Parts: sequence; structure tokens; C-alpha cells
Amino acid sequence: MNPLAVLHAAQLVTLAGPARPRIGAAMSDLRIIRDGGMLIRDGAIESVGPSDEIEEKIAEAEIVDARGRVVMPGFVDAHTHLVFAGNRLDDFERRARSETYEEIAKAGGGIWSTVERTRAASEADLLAEAKKHADWFLRCGTTTVEAKSGYGLTVEGELKILRVIGQLKEQVPLQIVPTFLGAHAVPKAISAEEYVEIVIEEMLPRVAAENLAEFCDVFCERGYFDSDQSGEVLSAAKRHGLKIRGHVDQLTNSGGARLMAELGATTADHLEQTDEQGIVALKKANVQPVLVPGSVYALGLSRYPRAREMIEAGLAIVLATDFNPGSSPTPSMPMILSLACTQMKMSPAEAITASTINAAYSLNRGDEIGSLQPGKLANFAIFDCEDYRELAYWFGIPQTHSVYVRGKRILKL
Ligand code: NIG
Ligand code: FE
Repeated sequence: MNPLAVLHAAQLVTLAGPARPRIGAAMSDLRIIRDGGMLIRDGAIESVGPSDEIEEKIAEAEIVDARGRVVMPGFVDAHTHLVFAGNRLDDFERRARSETYEEIAKAGGGIWSTVERTRAASEADLLAEAKKHADWFLRCGTTTVEAKSGYGLTVEGELKILRVIGQLKEQVPLQIVPTFLGAHAVPKAISAEEYVEIVIEEMLPRVAAENLAEFCDVFCERGYFDSDQSGEVLSAAKRHGLKIRGHVDQLTNSGGARLMAELGATTADHLEQTDEQGIVALKKANVQPVLVPGSVYALGLSRYPRAREMIEAGLAIVLATDFNPGSSPTPSMPMILSLACTQMKMSPAEAITASTINAAYSLNRGDEIGSLQPGKLANFAIFDCEDYRELAYWFGIPQTHSVYVRGKRILKL
């Protein structure tokens, strides 16, 4: 592959900086180079700087003229439920009639209805749907996603989803980090205790032995798994060498943030109901919050997580889509940036940091993606706007111009 030179970006948003997640004022420091350029060789970034300096080094490079456009690291989406069958249009319509997430679940909708459809789908059909979802992410400028299981809820059902994630990884340019979420809901006809035992004794050993996931997650919530059960699952996962994340304090405050701190989780996700003590606990234990405002929006709720307090407390916030058919049917990180700025009062710069470099660290990949720095993978997106703030400002309109993974253009819109 010839080297590639990206030149004359109106803004080259590098997010260069120390090799750690960004907190406090550092979240606002995007290290933008005007009329910026970069040289890419063998899929990695070789140099970054003002275009005229890069131009001196380019000899036989293929040139991408980014004049009038923003170039930035591909978004890193650290919380998605990418593999599922079907949709939840009936839930959507019920919500429009003011029924709640819990009421809809009791009436036969909710996670369980997606479980039934996902169980019934063949591996080939699931893979085909997942490929469509992967393409959506790329079109929004996302180059890495975390992807959870959780719509199988039997040993074979969960392994099937994780195998589909594994195949997807091989077949699409989107980079994927797998997470095992066996404890997503309690299957019908057994108790939460009985199911937790299956997750721990039967699922986790297979997931670990077959190397199907890097992380383990649970849904710690009233009607799903309580703190003790969530703790048991995540502790077992740690013994198998998995890192841990958790859906906590989404609909009720069950002390989930504190639990994630005690367990030494990598991330605590959702946190809509987390209070000040929860925030302090996360900080002490160095847990990264993953905020998913798309699910608040799409559920028609109004209580967003306390992002400003979290930033003031020095937490390395991550933003993610929570892409799933029930509570957050969007693959669009620009939509999440819009919500972060309008509903959670994050600045556009903080939101960009949270959806790139901080997200990369939360997936254990801060050393290879999330910023445009020499040595990192050339995973980047070019947007049809001149100022990065436009990504959060114009909402509901796609601005992606093209997307590159490992220096290869995989999408031109
Ligand atoms: O992150 N909270 C639990 N899991 C998802 C919803 C999944 C679903 O409704 O299918 C979430 O919001
Ligand atoms: Fe989720």
C-alpha cells in the first residue's frame, strides 16, 4: 500500500496529549491544527503537523485533499448492543402512548421480546443484520465499537451472539470489542438466583475458554439483577480474567456506582440516577463513567446523568450510543454529541474527547486509537464541515464525508 497524505484539513482535530484518559480542563484541549496534515504508512500514522511540513515528506504518497473539512479520529463507541434480531416498533409506539419501559416489558415487550426473536434467528441471519448495523456505525464516522451479547440468555444463545460478533469482526472494517452480557435479563420460568448460577457456572467458563469476550457486563436494576447478584457475576468474571463494566443506576439508584467502584470495574455505564456519593466513589476507584444520553432521549425521559458534576469531580467521562432496539435505536455519535451539549451541558470539545480518546481508554485501547498521533492506527473520519463544533450543532443531518480504517478508505458518501 502506498503511503497516504491527508492535507489541508480546515481543522485536524488530533487530541494529542499524554497517554492517559483526559479529565477536567484537559477534556477541552483538542490540539487542533489548522490547515493540518498527516502522513500514513502501513495503516499507521507516521507524522502529524501543519500541511506545509507534511507536504515536504510525501514523495510518492497518495494525496487526500481535506480542504474545507474537519479530520478527526474515528469515533469510539464504548457501549452498544450491536447484535440482535428485528426491532421494537411496538414498544416505540406504546411509549408514544406514555407507557413506561417497565410497563412495556411486563406487557410482553422489552428485552424479552428481542430475546425471543434473536433466539429464533439463525447465525447467518443474525450476521446479516449485524453487518447492516456495522455499516450504519461507519456511516456516522465510528471506527470502533464495543458490542455486547445479552439477547440469548441461554448458554447456546449467548455463545451464538458472541460467535456472530467474532465473525463480524473478521468480515467488516469496523473494529469490534466483544463484551459478555449474559446477565441482561432473567429468562422466564426461572429465578434470578438460578439464572445467575447458570451464568457463573456454565456461561462464563465457556466464554473465557473460547476467548469470546474481553469484558463482562450486567444489568443491575430493579426487576433484573440486584447488587448482590451483579457483584457475584462480575466477581466470577474477574476470576476468569475478564475486565468488567456494568449497566447501573439507569432507572433507579441502587448504589450501582458504588458497587462498580468496589469491584474495580473499568466503566460504570448509564448513571442517570447516580448521586454525589456515587460520583465520589467512582473517582476514588478510577472508574470511567460511560454516559448514554440516547437512551434517556429515546425513552422520552428527562433525567440525564450529572455530567458537569462528574467532570468537576475529575472523572474521565465517556459518551456512547448504547445502540440497541429498545432504549436507544441510534448508531449516531453526532446525535449523542448533540444531546451531550444540549441536555447535559457538556461543551462540544468535552463531548469529542469523551467519544474518542476517553472511550478508547475505556476499551483498553488508548495506546492504539482515539487520537491522531504518530504510532497510532490511521482510523479517522473526514466530515463536511469546517469546525468540529458543527458536528454537535447541526443535528439530524449526516456530515460524514469519508471514513478510513488502518489507512484504508472504507466509505465515501
Ligand atoms: O442499555 N438497560 C439495559 N439494556 C439496554 C436496553 C436493552 C433493550 O431494551 O433491549 C440499555 O438501555
Ligand atoms: Fe446498554
